[in-house]
Amino acid sequence: MTERDRVQADEAKGPPEEDPRIAGEKHPVARMIGIGVVASLIGVAITLQIDWFPEPASTAAGKIDTLYDVLLICSVPVFVLVMTIAIYSVVRFRAKPGDMGDGPPIHGNTRLEIIWVTIPFIMVTALAIYGWITLDDIEAKQQNEMVVAVTGQQFTWTFDYPSERLKGAKELYLPVDRPVEFRIHTKDVLHSFWVPQFRLKSDAVPGLTTKIRVTPDREGQFEVVCAELCGLGHSAMRQFVHVVPAGDFQKWVSGQKQAAGGSATGGGGGGGGAAAPSGEELFTSNGCSGCHTLAAAGATAKVGPDLGKLGKVDAAFIRKSIVDPNADVTKGYEPNIMPQDFGTKLSKEERDALVKYLLESQQ
Ligand code: CUA
Repeated sequence: MTERDRVQADEAKGPPEEDPRIAGEKHPVARMIGIGVVASLIGVAITLQIDWFPEPASTAAGKIDTLYDVLLICSVPVFVLVMTIAIYSVVRFRAKPGDMGDGPPIHGNTRLEIIWVTIPFIMVTALAIYGWITLDDIEAKQQNEMVVAVTGQQFTWTFDYPSERLKGAKELYLPVDRPVEFRIHTKDVLHSFWVPQFRLKSDAVPGLTTKIRVTPDREGQFEVVCAELCGLGHSAMRQFVHVVPAGDFQKWVSGQKQAAGGSATGGGGGGGGAAAPSGEELFTSNGCSGCHTLAAAGATAKVGPDLGKLGKVDAAFIRKSIVDPNADVTKGYEPNIMPQDFGTKLSKEERDALVKYLLESQQ
């Protein structure tokens, strides 16, 4: 007897006899739904109790947190329902020891299939529309926006303020309650610009400028985190954003400009940011501090050797190590970790300034 004959014979017999285990159960489906509803309520209550995100600090945070709660309320019952049916069926309808027979043949259930396709379809469509409305709302252009250009590189962030004519800031300062448009670039690989308190995250993609808007609405100091694995120094690629009153922001901007002006050689009044950066600025803005320790610059990273304790070295050695880092790899460290394009990325003057600074910073 072939499988086909057997199925035909079964069909000829009419509907298969009821499974005695299901027959013994008064309302197995009602019971499963009952357990599922109770488990869903408990699951939703638990997930809503958890603080998924840190204290909010931007106007978008409330909307994103609500969206997240709605997603939890929709997805937890689906997960719990599927798991309840699966676990209940495995426990309740498992084969008796020694029972090697096949289960009764099932020919599908059209009504059930329509239900389990339609309900998720409606849920997913509704959530997509809600998510789109929220995103559109958050990304809407604001009045009085300030543009901040964010540049990621292994392993540091730098910030330019075109409207303030300020370039290469190592820390991010923002006036409270003023909308900001971030324009995010990278000099090398993928990074991701993330401020958890702002609920803001955007990838920095080579060759692209990604944009993201945010309005910080709480003063304080929050971490700027790189959220994309970008190399050995990835976990150290953290800086701070300071959200301050507008007056303090202007004071900080003038302070930064003065510092930049002070290090310029014979800089005339208001040279428009043309001042040559100092050795220390080059050290931080080019990401050296993301990997190396250097007491003079307050850098403490340990991916590469301590540059304040190079021993007896001369300018030529330091220059070669910057331009061709694989030429002489310190014992205990790996080759090919340090970017090898500083020979082209830095101008000759910048290289000279950096070499001089490193020589002077030996302990
Ligand atoms: Cu940059 Cu991770």
